[in-house]
Amino acid sequence: MTEFSDAFVFFGATGDLAYKKIFPALQALVRSGKLNIPIVGVARAGWTLEQLVERARESLEEHGGVDEAAFKKMTGLLRYVDGDYSKLETFKALRKELGDAKRPLHYLAIPPSMFATVVGHLGDSGCSENARVVVEKPFGRDLKSGRALSATIHSVFDEADVFRIDHYLGKETVQNLVVFRFANTFLEPIWNRNYVESVQITMAEEFGVQGRGKFYEEAGAIRDVVQNHLMQVVGFLAMEPPAAAYVGSIRDEMVKVFRQIRPLTSEDVVRGQFRGYRDEPGVASDSNVETFAALRLSIDSWRWNGVPFVIRTGKCLPETATEVLVTLKRPPLTNLSQGQNNYLRFRLSPDLNIALGASVKVPGEHMIGTRTELSLTPDASSDEMSAYERLLGDAIEGDPTLFSRQDAIEAAWAVVDAALDCPAPVLFYDVGSWGPVESNTITADIGGWSNPRVKT
Ligand code: BG6
Repeated sequence: MTEFSDAFVFFGATGDLAYKKIFPALQALVRSGKLNIPIVGVARAGWTLEQLVERARESLEEHGGVDEAAFKKMTGLLRYVDGDYSKLETFKALRKELGDAKRPLHYLAIPPSMFATVVGHLGDSGCSENARVVVEKPFGRDLKSGRALSATIHSVFDEADVFRIDHYLGKETVQNLVVFRFANTFLEPIWNRNYVESVQITMAEEFGVQGRGKFYEEAGAIRDVVQNHLMQVVGFLAMEPPAAAYVGSIRDEMVKVFRQIRPLTSEDVVRGQFRGYRDEPGVASDSNVETFAALRLSIDSWRWNGVPFVIRTGKCLPETATEVLVTLKRPPLTNLSQGQNNYLRFRLSPDLNIALGASVKVPGEHMIGTRTELSLTPDASSDEMSAYERLLGDAIEGDPTLFSRQDAIEAAWAVVDAALDCPAPVLFYDVGSWGPVESNTITADIGGWSNPRVKT
């Protein structure tokens, strides 16, 4: 049985992530009765606790709303330690603030360049004893640095106490992929190379880099969302059924998928950059960083041999939507089906929608079929949890299921590393287009890309 954490510490308390995600998640956890332990914010802003409380209020006013009762309770639990992360005194002050807490959880909502210093001082000050640590992506920028980052964290924390957040794993719609796949008998016989022709995943964003040019220059689309978020989606679609009997089984099945994916080569990747990216603040005028990537993955497993998994993501595309399209092979009597494939479409964002593309008879004299879609939009209940609420709640409880394990991170880097090492040239595309036309080569033999249609 896992032990609950008895204090929640977050470094970077005055930063962007705390403002956008952590305060809203904390208020929701307090509201649902799942968080009733000291909350300690740490930052080097020269602030007081009152200022942090004010910041929390502003954060909630902008992100989800203030629930006065929960807010009062949350701020009643809130403490603040101000100090320089490079000084051991800051961590001694933190240890003091933790009082008799025996199983604190430390959330590093800070740039990875600070991890080594903070982790080292957590160790030296006694704050790491029996503690858990939560870290945010990026988990390195390639396999080598990903390993080095894990080694830094492991110098103080055991892997079992490390919780790596990939917020895609906390999304209701992404988790639904697991339930839909494994809780429906009708899918099992067809979910393999004998019936599935191809799998497409599109993660499109209508917006650009939103002032994060400096960060994006270090990342690019492949590091920012493919190596992590989209690989998790591939993992859920392609994994073998997890055993219900032990906690690590979903993570074991996930890592198996990643290890079966052939490392990418430059032929499997088309990279694009939207026109105007180089004029963004923080972006080099000759930047070669991709804001669009289309990739073709091959999974060398018994189930998926020969089935292309194609992925596409980009900024400044016509829609903001993430969609999975699983196309089935055509039935033999093509005159009845008019040569159309059945398919399953999962919209993961902005809303959950599942659709089955099927053929039905055209009314009238002739025995011919036409395409129709059976579409299902599950109730968006007010109980829906945000990804951060779910993940922080799980980390406090010590449930690692929805966190990325080191072996999975490394296996995912091993897939994309080859493409990062020898990048295909970056091709320009217009804002509001579906990326460079060259990306069509990736899907030329599987009927082209299917664009999500959210806007009407
Ligand atoms: C983040 C990326 O991890 O995920 C962003 O850094 C991206 O570039 C975002 O926009 C997408 O997540 P969501 O949940 O907002 O669709």
